[in-house]
Amino acid sequence: MKTIFSGIQPSGSLTLGNYLGALRHFPTLQDEYNCFFCVVDQHAITIPQDRLALRKNIRSLAAVYIAAGIDPEKSTLFIQSEVPAHAQAGWMMQCISYIGELERMTQFKDKSHGKEGVSASLLTYPPLMAADILLYNTDLVPVGDDQKQHIELTRDLAERFNKKYNDIFTIPEPRISEVGARIMSLQEPTKKMSKSDENLKATIFLLDDEKQIEKKIKSAVTDSEGIVKYDKENKPGVSNLLTIYSILSNKTIPQLEEEYTGKGYGEFKADVAKVVVDSLKPIQEKYHQLIDSELLDTYLDQGAEKANKVASKMLRKMENGMGLGRKR
Ligand code: TYM
Repeated sequence: MKTIFSGIQPSGSLTLGNYLGALRHFPTLQDEYNCFFCVVDQHAITIPQDRLALRKNIRSLAAVYIAAGIDPEKSTLFIQSEVPAHAQAGWMMQCISYIGELERMTQFKDKSHGKEGVSASLLTYPPLMAADILLYNTDLVPVGDDQKQHIELTRDLAERFNKKYNDIFTIPEPRISEVGARIMSLQEPTKKMSKSDENLKATIFLLDDEKQIEKKIKSAVTDSEGIVKYDKENKPGVSNLLTIYSILSNKTIPQLEEEYTGKGYGEFKADVAKVVVDSLKPIQEKYHQLIDSELLDTYLDQGAEKANKVASKMLRKMENGMGLGRKR
């Protein structure tokens, strides 16, 4: 059975982008693959976090994973900082990374651009992500488009380690869906939808209520043409809404274009909002049942135990390969 690993940062509330680009694919993979899904809290501290908010977001993300369909009996669901092998292996991966290749990461450039006091971890975050993936002999990594470059780096680091030290790592492949891998901001549809956007109208959060979703979609930036047509270059706003609508309704984009011929953006947006609300409702209901339950802790304890077993074995192989400690 092939292995899947993916992670999401608990650096804020989850967005519709996270859901459509990554999370919604996870439940469908559970029967076919040996799956590891991780709340990557150590990645979240690469930018300053309020400790109480971080605690809350970690738990909340774990509950969202389950609410969205992850079955903790089938998949291993765990919190990164509860499996120390990640930070240990992350250090080893840093030692074989070059500063030049880390500086070329688009996300590093975007997040550090024009800022003072950029943390070192913002630069060295991709080797930790490589460790996350490589510890589990991962074959496939389902992610959105923005993580592709990090997975390419993971492959390079794995090959470098295999060649230089010991041939222990499986070389992972990204699994990026053709539609929905890059959901755009509702306010600046040439920019990706992000958890940290300062303009709250730009982002739909998974736990937004009906009113908030309706309001945000109603005020989504479109164009003055008044024609519901997919044209990413010239009509990025409408194209983004069409993508969201298409995924959540299981209708193709040409079908939707046809359905809305001669109709205005008002009606179109109201229907997009309805589809989003209806799709998120069952996830939100399950989330609220889970968030304060002890069962969630039981699942996370079990997940940490399973992940620790697998990860510590690979960690030992890595240490042996590099000559750390005493031979075990
Ligand atoms: P993060 O937390 O930023 O995002 C989690 C997942 O959501 C996808 N995503 C999107 N997809 C479509 N449209 C968007 N606007 C959008 N925004 C985010 C991301 O591509 C990702 O799949 N470094 C990772 C977390 C990570 C990880 C890993 C992932 C750490 N270790 C190992 C896979 C394997 C991150 O910051 O994702």
